[in-house]
Amino acid sequence: MFKAARRAGVTSITCTPHCREPYFDYLPMWRAFRAFEKEVNKLEPGFSLQMGFEVNYRMLMDLGMEWAERLHFDGSNEFLLELEVGASPSRFGDYERTIFTLQGLGYDVIIAHPERYVAIQKDFGLARELVHMGCKLQASTDFIRGGRLGAERRPAMRMMKEGLYTYAASDAHHVDHYACLAKVMKRWGDRLQNA
Ligand SMILES: [Fe+2]
Repeated sequence: MFKAARRAGVTSITCTPHCREPYFDYLPMWRAFRAFEKEVNKLEPGFSLQMGFEVNYRMLMDLGMEWAERLHFDGSNEFLLELEVGASPSRFGDYERTIFTLQGLGYDVIIAHPERYVAIQKDFGLARELVHMGCKLQASTDFIRGGRLGAERRPAMRMMKEGLYTYAASDAHHVDHYACLAKVMKRWGDRLQNA
């Protein structure tokens, strides 16, 4: 995975394992990160690696906001929040409160793969509202192949054109996913702050 990332031109990595059921296990995830870090250090000493989590909204509600300090990116104040894929637009009122709470605690909120949310696919106004609230939007670059759920390409292209994204993430679960990242960066890299 690391070698594939390097081939795709990645120069630093933030690892964001799922913080949602049934995957989340805080300490083993940190142990896996430390093991990865050790291997990366053997290959490329000094390569920039950061640990974080992709925090599912529902899971954060279950864990409680006091967990935020353990779930933001290690060494920075960024907090990657994943909303519920099939949520109705009315649910965005709840998200708004949580986002403001996180921002009030000093976190810079990044919204994971907005192109995957049904409510945003139907109403781009919701994505613009998230940006107005100070959130940064992060595309998952497999959208270029239609995405995990098959309907992400069109909304993602539109959000790219509108300049709504700040980040593009490999969302890499497989070496192949880095090819998507390379493709998106080639085409849209100048519109994005980082990958
Ligand atoms: Fe996700």
